[in-house]
Amino acid sequence: MRKIELLTKLHDRDGFDCGSEPLNLFLKQTARQHAERGISRTFVLVDEGASASKPVIGFFSLNLCQIKSESLSPPEPKKLPRDVSGIRLGRLAVAKTYQRQGIGKILLVAAMGKFIEIFNAAGGIGLFVDAKDQEARRYYEQFGFVALPSNELELFLPVRTIQEALATQP
Ligand SMILES: CC(C)(COP(=O)(O)OP(=O)(O)OC[C@H]1O[C@@H](n2cnc3c(N)ncnc32)[C@H](O)[C@@H]1OP(=O)(O)O)[C@@H](O)C(=O)NCCC(=O)NCCS
Repeated sequence: MRKIELLTKLHDRDGFDCGSEPLNLFLKQTARQHAERGISRTFVLVDEGASASKPVIGFFSLNLCQIKSESLSPPEPKKLPRDVSGIRLGRLAVAKTYQRQGIGKILLVAAMGKFIEIFNAAGGIGLFVDAKDQEARRYYEQFGFVALPSNELELFLPVRTIQEALATQP
């Protein structure tokens, strides 16, 4: 059985390799510091039955963000004040040995669930993500993320799409 937990020092990050060194280093060197300073939160997928030091299978991180509504695709800006808040999916990664098994999707759905918790408590227009390249952009697009007109590597998933996606989850 697997579960998603807030990253702590009990998680074994040393062996994590998703194929992207900046993402590996973020998990190993930066994620916990960022959490302590309130910069972002990182959640990890682990095997529940794993030993005390649980190897990380995949992770995502979230942080608060502010954006100009004019940067969104029409008709969104019309309905919104000039400055709006959202949540940024800062990072998403799955260990190479576990890729292409649907774990990225499990993590994305969990990130959407976290977004709804924050939305219910404080609002937020949706999830934003910076895709690291065109391949990552295509990955996010299949889940309904839409590229911003000003930057095709910055994508947006509106709250209504998140609510619809979660309503169809078992
Ligand atoms: C991108 C990543 C998170 C996807 O995780 P994953 O667990 O392998 O993805 P899933 O199994 O949930 O993929 C679901 C579907 O997405 C598509 N997909 C998977 N990886 C993809 C990729 N790298 N690019 C485009 N589409 C991809 C496939 O259609 C896949 O279905 P299929 O295996 O039946 O063909 C993972 O490959 C990864 O960590 N890559 C390195 C880091 C990275 O690029 N992170 C994105 C940050 S911007």
